[in-house]
Amino acid sequence: MKLKNVKISIIGAGFVGATTTYALMLGGLCEELVLVDVNKDKAIGEAMDISHGAAFVKPVKVMSGDYEDTKGSDIVIITAGAAQKPGETRLDLVNKNIGIYRQIIPEIVKYSPDSILLVVSNPVDILAYVAYKLSGFPRERVIGSGTVLDTSRFRTLLAEYLDVDARSIHGYIIGEHGDSEIAAWSLTNIAGVNLKEYVSITEKGKGDLSFMEYIPLSVKNAAYEMINTKGYTNYAVALAVRRICEAITGDEKAILTVSSLLDGEYGLKDLYIGIPSIVGKEGIKKVIEVPLKEKEREDFIASAETMKKIIEGSSL
Ligand code: NAI
Ligand code: LAC
Repeated sequence: MKLKNVKISIIGAGFVGATTTYALMLGGLCEELVLVDVNKDKAIGEAMDISHGAAFVKPVKVMSGDYEDTKGSDIVIITAGAAQKPGETRLDLVNKNIGIYRQIIPEIVKYSPDSILLVVSNPVDILAYVAYKLSGFPRERVIGSGTVLDTSRFRTLLAEYLDVDARSIHGYIIGEHGDSEIAAWSLTNIAGVNLKEYVSITEKGKGDLSFMEYIPLSVKNAAYEMINTKGYTNYAVALAVRRICEAITGDEKAILTVSSLLDGEYGLKDLYIGIPSIVGKEGIKKVIEVPLKEKEREDFIASAETMKKIIEGSSL
């Protein structure tokens, strides 16, 4: 059952927050969008500019405001926080952004106690955990964008190599949205055909499987390349966030590699990580403990341990 009269608030009107607001407006999946930023002029200007496109899209009210104006949001997307500078990893942002989350989570909870929190700021898996702890919300209502973006990058590059539509590729990047992420090749198929079989029956690459090395590497390094060239990333992540919101507002029960709280899956507990999960109107309906090859499982657990160590060493 689709949600009705959907209100979505975006905290953080920077590159990601403003582009996400724009993508949500184009997607026509909500009736109200509220943009909040500590830099009020930024939020005012971005909301005004986006709202002036109203004549071209389905009716939606786009406004800037304070936390009070976010009251009763169905989804609150959090993009507020410091972004990586060239040479920085996502994990380098942890303490600064935990500090910001300590300020904003109580305000969000105060006005939208029944909302779903969709965390995007980095390091997203750790900040999803921070939002979960600070909000007191049930695990299903705190979601990180996880590796939904990375999975799209992975499918895009694989689609280019195989010369097929990226939407016909089922393949996942799992783990940290960051340097320790993993390509779950054993789960990858095209039209239901296992990847290696597909490559052989289409005689793609004449048996040369080197793409299975360089594509995951290109995905892992994509953000650094764009931060070093254009200075930030914003478009694909905005579409990834819109995809997650669509699954929620449409109660789609879509399987997306959002960052979900593990509660015993893979023998891991009490941490957020990118893993295929069923997403619907309540948020995360179920984490799917997908079968992984031994090396994939080892790498996944190593990715989880990396993040556990960061949380233990952080200011949380
Ligand atoms: P940005 O610097 O353009 O925007 C951040 C915004 O947060 C600024 O407008 C700033 O005024 C605002 N802000 C800071 N403290 C605040 C507070 N206490 N309350 C409200 N607003 C506050 O940065 P950008 O490029 O939009 O990135 C935002 C975050 O998203 C970064 O942490 C970045 O690493 C992350 N990101 C995550 C991705 C993902 O796939 N999870 C992809 C791309 C970016
Ligand atoms: C990305 C970084 C910024 O675009 O998280 O993947």
